[in-house]
Amino acid sequence: MGATRLATSATSQWFFPISALYKTPSRTTSDIPLDKELYDRSRGVEFLYRLGVSLGLPSSAMYTAATWFHRFYMRYSMEDYHRQDVAASCIFLATKTEECGRKLRDVAKVVCSKVSKKDIKEISDDSKEVEECQTSILLTEEVLLEGLCFDFVVDSPHAELVDLYEARSSYSLQVEECAWSIANDSYRTPLCILYPPKIIAAACYVLAEHAIEGPQSSPLDARIASPAPSASLPTPPSHKVQHNGVSRHAVEFFRFNETELASVADAISILLEYYGAQDLQGSSEFLTAVTSIPRPQSTSPREKLYRPFAHFAPGGPPPVNSSTPEHAIGRGATPTQPGANSPGKFASSGWRPVTEGTQEGHYQ
Ligand SMILES: *[C@@H]1O[C@H](CO)[C@@H](O)[C@H](O)[C@H]1NC(C)=O
Ligand SMILES: *[C@@H]1O[C@H](CO)[C@@H](O)[C@H](O)[C@H]1NC(C)=O
Ligand SMILES: *[C@@H]1O[C@H](CO)[C@@H](O)[C@H](O)[C@H]1NC(C)=O
Repeated sequence: MGATRLATSATSQWFFPISALYKTPSRTTSDIPLDKELYDRSRGVEFLYRLGVSLGLPSSAMYTAATWFHRFYMRYSMEDYHRQDVAASCIFLATKTEECGRKLRDVAKVVCSKVSKKDIKEISDDSKEVEECQTSILLTEEVLLEGLCFDFVVDSPHAELVDLYEARSSYSLQVEECAWSIANDSYRTPLCILYPPKIIAAACYVLAEHAIEGPQSSPLDARIASPAPSASLPTPPSHKVQHNGVSRHAVEFFRFNETELASVADAISILLEYYGAQDLQGSSEFLTAVTSIPRPQSTSPREKLYRPFAHFAPGGPPPVNSSTPEHAIGRGATPTQPGANSPGKFASSGWRPVTEGTQEGHYQ
């Protein structure tokens, strides 16, 4: 959609305060606790990504669909609309608005194959399950269109990252790839309905820089501190978190004011909390590095949003040494680049996106 950037301000009805998460329909009309809703939102987006990858959709279509998915559940309960139905409808709608059309039947077949864990070749075009799935996609789509108020325009942090990368004077491929991947993962959280894409892009970039530079590098607070207002005077007032040589590329590029910097801190905290909720068993070096990063002290006080995902695995919390965690990390397909490992640091080839394994709950 060509006019995406221009229409941004019209979509501000879609940014909610964090407090709105405590009052979504999943709680006001159903009894689903917030931590369970957030867990199911992450599983829904995982499912949505898998559909999109199987259908060969461009990433931008998947990010748009994921944003709609989160918007939908600000208006409807997860009890009334199953995450897989909503994910499938979001994907199907995105193929239409993002001009990467797929036939309804083809989308339904992919959904059936993921849900039943059968090879797509085993799913015949005119089977009853494909028929039912098509009906379900269309019925859910009607609700989705209404829930979205026919407002399909969505911006992504990736577009902001592209602008940021183009403006650089020097660069680290590792940081850029890492920020890109974190932005991918950001859709597994509700960040896209809390903050504009610039804020999310900056949060991903700052977090990536810290993760790549390692634990000894400047803390997050120094990276997102607002610049001292009188820094140009000969004797500037000392600014307690200002460190020399800290990269402030993202916050300077976006020219954030104090309010926006506070949002960047909050967005980073949500990402850290999300990563921290993953089952770290067998996880990648990167994830371990990220989860050990202390959150910015400037985060606004709030209750914890996430509970460890292992808690929700079927049959309750698994033993810590469970060999088949439902939310295994680092099993996903990864774009592998040849790249030398630098000891003690995260190498780009070591990046593993968060995945939620191949276990999917039963459809319906
Ligand atoms: C981002 O997500 C898409 C969809 O899952 C995936 O195809 C792509 O490889 C991911 N990119 C990175 C860098 O993780
Ligand atoms: C900060 O910037 C945002 C977005 O540009 C604007 O809406 C807000 O009013 C600004 N806040 C302050 C305190 O200047
Ligand atoms: C897991 O822990 C239990 C009890 O602590 C132990 O008996 C079992 O052998 C462990 N399994 C693995 C795969 O390490």
